[in-house]
Amino acid sequence: MMALVLTGALGALGVAVAAAMWWRRRAVGVQAELQAMRRRAVQAEQAAVAAQGRLHDVIEGAPAAVFVLEPSGAVALANAAASAILTGRHGDALVLEAVRGLCGELQRGGVEQATRALDLAGPPRRSVALTARRLPEGEVLVITDDITERRRIDDVRRDFVANISHELKTPIGAMALLAETMTDEDDPQLLARLSQRLHREAMRVSSTIDDLLLLSRIETDEQPRREPVRLDEVVAHVVERSQPAAALRDIEVRTELVEPPVELLGDRRQLESAVYNLLDNAVKYSDEGSEVVVRTTRNERTVGIEVADRGIGIPAKDLERVFERFYRVDRARSRSTGGTGLGLAIVRHVAYNHEGTVRVASREGEGSTFRLELPDGLPAPAGSPVTDEGITAS
Ligand SMILES: Nc1ncnc2c1ncn2[C@@H]1O[C@H](COP(=O)(O)OP(=O)(O)OP(=O)(O)O)[C@@H](O)[C@H]1O
Ligand SMILES: [Mg+2]
Repeated sequence: MMALVLTGALGALGVAVAAAMWWRRRAVGVQAELQAMRRRAVQAEQAAVAAQGRLHDVIEGAPAAVFVLEPSGAVALANAAASAILTGRHGDALVLEAVRGLCGELQRGGVEQATRALDLAGPPRRSVALTARRLPEGEVLVITDDITERRRIDDVRRDFVANISHELKTPIGAMALLAETMTDEDDPQLLARLSQRLHREAMRVSSTIDDLLLLSRIETDEQPRREPVRLDEVVAHVVERSQPAAALRDIEVRTELVEPPVELLGDRRQLESAVYNLLDNAVKYSDEGSEVVVRTTRNERTVGIEVADRGIGIPAKDLERVFERFYRVDRARSRSTGGTGLGLAIVRHVAYNHEGTVRVASREGEGSTFRLELPDGLPAPAGSPVTDEGITAS
């Protein structure tokens, strides 16, 4: 009997011990699970902090100014660009006023988004576009974007269309008038004169279109040819081409070429166009009977071509602008010489495509010297880096 009781007690104890061990194992398992969950929570928090940090860096470093305004109008968030506006003066005050104005507009009008553009007189002149959007919590996000460059490109494009329309409209109008006059004319001599003028105007249109096509080709040519080009050959070709115009005005074109001949890696056709345009100008803007000199030069890593004349020269105030498309110092005079103002734009682009520079030194009434300076493009000897000065007119 006693033994039975003992066996029963021992059995109960065994069950209790087993249960206790099971609970212990379970508790240890739960604890491990809890620890794993805690680890995951910490990792998730770290990831969230890192993501927030990245987002903060992106917003902070964005070139656009980012503001978040509370419904009261108080600034809840401003990135670096926005902070500069908040602490800035003059034009920035106008931007801030527009930011607040947009915020108020969204609060009042119940609209989700609003935009505004601002032109700031500067200096420097700036154009700013603002976009405001309502956030879910009732705050307003305002992003300001500097659109000065975009505006400038739009202006250039608009001016270009206006200029080209004008340049083509004038001779085409003249051609229409000449053709109309010829229809009712019987006098052979007058007819011959009118048809000569008609031909001249047609040639003018054709040369403007040729220049435009050339300029567009040079501008869009992302990979200009790189062939060995001898500058003395370029000069000889160009001098021959401008001989009729020079002879007509009794202008002597003299060449001074360095020996041995200067060579560079470049685009022969582009270089010929550039030098032709410089020589064409030198002849066109010189007095009858004067002299024009075309020189080649060589420096350590660059080669140069200079075209010097003793012509009418360029006023100092126009020197910076003569390389712009359609820019002419004296429109009336250029009309009589048949120019459209594209020649130097072509020269500038050729210099650009060859990573070189074009400069002008000129004095009104005394003459001008245009100088193209281009890297020779040949492998540089060790220890002599080529410097790129960009395009300048001085
Ligand atoms: N050698 C020069 N001497 C004096 N003025 C010059 C000379 N070269 C250029 N210019 C001035 O710069 C302007 C721009 O020159 P550019 O070659 O671009 O145009 P253009 O000669 O008028 O016309 P295009 O070359 O398109 O026929 C000219 O109209 C002229 O006023
Ligand atoms: Mg010209």
